[in-house]
Amino acid sequence: MALNEFIAELDGVLQEATAAFAAAADNDALEEARVAFLGAKKGRLRAAQKGMGGVDADDRPQAGQRLNDVKRAIETAFEEAERRIATGAADAAASGPAFDRTLPGSEYRVGSLHPITQTIEELKDIMGRLGFTVADGPEIEDERHNFEALNIPREHPARDPLDNFYLSTAEKTADGLDLLMRSQTSTVQIRVMEHTPPPVRIISLGRVYRPDEADRTHYPMFHQMEGLMVDEGVTMADLKSVLRMFASSYLGSDVRVRFRPSFFPFTEPSVEADFEWNGEWIEFGGAGMVDPNVFTAVGYDPESVTGFAFGLGVERLCMRRHNLADIRDLFTNDVRFLRQF
Ligand code: PHE
Repeated sequence: MALNEFIAELDGVLQEATAAFAAAADNDALEEARVAFLGAKKGRLRAAQKGMGGVDADDRPQAGQRLNDVKRAIETAFEEAERRIATGAADAAASGPAFDRTLPGSEYRVGSLHPITQTIEELKDIMGRLGFTVADGPEIEDERHNFEALNIPREHPARDPLDNFYLSTAEKTADGLDLLMRSQTSTVQIRVMEHTPPPVRIISLGRVYRPDEADRTHYPMFHQMEGLMVDEGVTMADLKSVLRMFASSYLGSDVRVRFRPSFFPFTEPSVEADFEWNGEWIEFGGAGMVDPNVFTAVGYDPESVTGFAFGLGVERLCMRRHNLADIRDLFTNDVRFLRQF
């Protein structure tokens, strides 16, 4: 056999082997191709090698050299294919299983406003239609706004440290007044009147704090809606009609309002306001005509203006509306409960 024939034979094997390795899609196919070309017994290279015996003795060293080169080239092509298949498998694993468009989609959890927030928004809406604008005040209050200006003097039991969350005695206002978590939103009456000349028609909705044991109807933090209307000639009939309009808007047109005599230092006379709901009378808060001492404390002339004030429990209103039995459910943040609103 002539040298060039032998070389042509080897080059043919190299070309075919390179093509076969490149075409192998997985390890099994590659192994099959390896045995076919590099197999020690029946491999194509082995078969071509046999042709070397027919090459002229003078040309044999060159033929052997060529054989080694081709063998190395085929092995390199095999290793390349091996690497290609290995990285391909790694890429596929990294990109996860193929997208299955027949599976149901994952559900988006859409949040909603807390039931108390929803109630507050509705109360603002109803009272807004009755001409009341929203005022705000701080939750950390001084004793003047929480007590003194509301006609609750120092020796009054309502100021007892056991009934209030006072801040540590080290924390006082610049004037040396004690600070506490406000126990009522009536503080905002004072804050508004201090800065606004009459007439005034505001509500204020917010948190108040009292050291009560938590049970089905009590919680150490709850919300109140304060109302205040001051003008010339405001009477208790105005108070009752505003509360009746409010109650029938919020609870239903057949709701009735009842006043029972009561006492608050900052109103005179004072009442407890009950609403009739499903044939039952329920107390929703306190109310009354603003005490002249309160007007004097904020610089109003008690001879020229009168006014009414009320403070309703927001949780109570919310719980009635939604038929809730336990106030604690509102504040434990259990999504199974909250999701229902
Ligand atoms: N602040 C009173 C309370 O928390 C309620 C109230 C407000 C009473 C306004 C009269 C007038 O109990």
